[in-house]
Amino acid sequence: MYCVRKIYDDLYFVGANDRRLAMFEGVFSVPKGVSYNSYLLLDKKTVLFDTVDKAVGRVFFENVEHALNGRPLDYVVVHHMEPDHSATLTELLSRYPEAKVVGNAKTVNMIKQFFDIDLTGSAYIVKEGDTLDTGSRKLAFYMAPMVHWPEVMVTYDPVYKIIFSADAFGTFGAINGALFADEADFDRDYLDECRRYYTNIVGKYGQQTLNLLNKISVLDVEMICPLHGFVWRKNLDYIIEKHRKWATYTPEETGVLIAYASVYGNTENLAEIISAKLNEKGIKTKMFDVSVTDASEILSECFRFSHLVFASATYNAGIFIKMEELLRDIASHNLQNRTVGLVQNGSWVPIATKYMKEILSPLKNITILEETITINSSLKETQREDVENFVNAVVNSIKK
Ligand SMILES: Cc1cc2nc3c(=O)[nH]c(=O)nc-3n(C[C@H](O)[C@H](O)[C@H](O)COP(=O)(O)O)c2cc1C
Ligand SMILES: [Fe+2]
Ligand SMILES: [Fe+2]
Repeated sequence: MYCVRKIYDDLYFVGANDRRLAMFEGVFSVPKGVSYNSYLLLDKKTVLFDTVDKAVGRVFFENVEHALNGRPLDYVVVHHMEPDHSATLTELLSRYPEAKVVGNAKTVNMIKQFFDIDLTGSAYIVKEGDTLDTGSRKLAFYMAPMVHWPEVMVTYDPVYKIIFSADAFGTFGAINGALFADEADFDRDYLDECRRYYTNIVGKYGQQTLNLLNKISVLDVEMICPLHGFVWRKNLDYIIEKHRKWATYTPEETGVLIAYASVYGNTENLAEIISAKLNEKGIKTKMFDVSVTDASEILSECFRFSHLVFASATYNAGIFIKMEELLRDIASHNLQNRTVGLVQNGSWVPIATKYMKEILSPLKNITILEETITINSSLKETQREDVENFVNAVVNSIKK
């Protein structure tokens, strides 16, 4: 049975939620599910903005059919060819063969790559600033390359002043009947998932995200309709400012994230002691065991906090595997503007910090503290001073 939500009399949300998916894109845990958004505009011409993942195809097609109410589908705008938004495109075209695909040259090429259909000649190909007249408005298209893929574009509706923003402004988490962010307690229930979504999916491309934010800033925007998560009709400045922070790799909070990798618990013990001492000195901390917490969550928190401490056991003459994975993930997401402290453990040749430093030092504007701690299997009373020195170095770098 269809489950649509009206945005205006002639604009509907026709997407759906998936709460059964274990790993989004194979790497990101989605314990609260995810929504695949699609919107249908019923102007003199009918326009569908994107399709959905195959997991929710059934209700999506029921939604489209219901909202069209017997009218033909004239256009489907493809903002992003990633299969979470395009896997049901060919089925849509077989149900609505008269629909013209609207996309840019890169989109049309990618459609050919993913599917055995060639739209050359039959698609409506647009570039930056081009428009599509749907009867009572001219939809305008703006390119947003690398917010998340190279072919990404967004649409501006000048009548309702809406940006259909593709993956930008998305969030993890099913939207549970609420469609507008103001219908939920976004700050309490979704901000962390929104940060985790942005930082993991788009985080590497801060400059490209800024380019899009700048394009949007000169338009008169009253609503943002993304491809995942809530529609924004209130407090647009709030969510735009959050994205500006993340896109510029500016910490949201002064405090220390401590991520540790420990086989037998001794590195963990050191991390606990460091954290306790920081708290005693009035510094806020958040701790993660890299073997337990999904890397996507720790990465997201690294974008949030100003200071990062990584503590690792040495493993096969290198870094503990989960810690290495996390650090490479952080590096490949271009994290910048952070102060980092590194500590290590090892029973014969402790060497983890050397390699941790190698991964993190190429990052822009990252200060790696000279102070470090090496323990041999377990922390000893004789090393209390090393711990004090390390903690003081972290505290001083925060006070600076
Ligand atoms: C598979 C494996 C490989 C290891 N490789 C090294 C190594 O190359 N060099 C070293 O000094 N210690 C190595 N260790 C030992 C641990 O780093 C060491 O015991 C450390 O104390 C573990 O800290 P933990 O109690 O936090 O797990 C290895 C341990 C395991 C299980
Ligand atoms: Fe995407
Ligand atoms: Fe997506």
